[in-house]
Amino acid sequence: MELKTIKKIGVLTSGGDSPGMNAAIRAAVRAGFYYNLEMYGVYRGYEGLIQNDIKKLHSGDIAHVLERGGTFLKSARSAEFRTPEGRKKAYDNLRSHGIDALIVIGGDGSLTGAHLFYKEFGIPAVGLPGTIDNDLSGTDSTIGFDTACNTAIEAIDKIRDTATSHDRLFFVEVMGRDAGFIAINAGIGSAAAAILIPEKKIAVENLVEKLKVRTKAKKASNIVIVAEGGKSGGAAEIAEKVKKHLPYYDIKVTILGHLQRGGAPSSYDRLLASKLGVAAVEGLLQGKYDVMAGLINHKVVYTPIKRAIVDDKEVDEDDFRVAKILST
Ligand code: F6P
Repeated sequence: MELKTIKKIGVLTSGGDSPGMNAAIRAAVRAGFYYNLEMYGVYRGYEGLIQNDIKKLHSGDIAHVLERGGTFLKSARSAEFRTPEGRKKAYDNLRSHGIDALIVIGGDGSLTGAHLFYKEFGIPAVGLPGTIDNDLSGTDSTIGFDTACNTAIEAIDKIRDTATSHDRLFFVEVMGRDAGFIAINAGIGSAAAAILIPEKKIAVENLVEKLKVRTKAKKASNIVIVAEGGKSGGAAEIAEKVKKHLPYYDIKVTILGHLQRGGAPSSYDRLLASKLGVAAVEGLLQGKYDVMAGLINHKVVYTPIKRAIVDDKEVDEDDFRVAKILST
């Protein structure tokens, strides 16, 4: 592959925001300055690329952002970038600023955009896994996943106080579109009675049986974690079905929702984002294009974007086994 001269790099965040995105931007920009590059912020993701919302970044722009949740570059889901015309506009804007390469921080949709852009216009791009869902291959953890799990656990701990005080059964729905990583992690970490994830279908009868056994065993409280988009339905739907079998139970549903996406990034997410931000710039300078930088066993690994976005990262069977043992 031909090594391109890279002097100006654009950075954008796209899709759902995740805690640690700011830390990743800051690391990429600082690394760019270290290697004497000009760094540009593209605001509102691909939407900003199409609308030419692009500004040169200075070190003051990235002061005190590492510890902040969200993304100061803002984020969006762009329908126009999915069209060839939209991508052509984006390319023209990029070139009008003389930007030679892109760093895209986001989930699978955002990285798909970077891949297409490279294929169509040859713009070198490195993706960083920025999503709370942890559903990208080529990295042990995505930026924001650890913080989202911590946030979920903190909220569930509080819900448990009421569950115990009132002998209530709670169904708590966590995020993770089509992926059960937050559910399994937060479920084990909060001693859930059961964890329902999209990857595994569980019959309501089995769940009811399990809850009956736990009631007989006089468990202090019962909290069932349900991943959104689960095969068995969302928390409200499952709670309704269970209620038919256990009418004597006082059942409540809590949907944690977007609170899981906000807040200051955890120590792990700050480290992950910082390492990957530097890796993105170094990767581009070494001619690693159309790849996602991830961390596997604490080491930076570059995975072709096409490979990283394949929907085959699975919840660890052993996590599932442990959750089962601990909730019996
Ligand atoms: O991909 C991150 C995520 O928070 C998913 O867990 C969730 O399904 C989705 O984004 C929600 O998206 P939006 O904020 O656009 O409703």
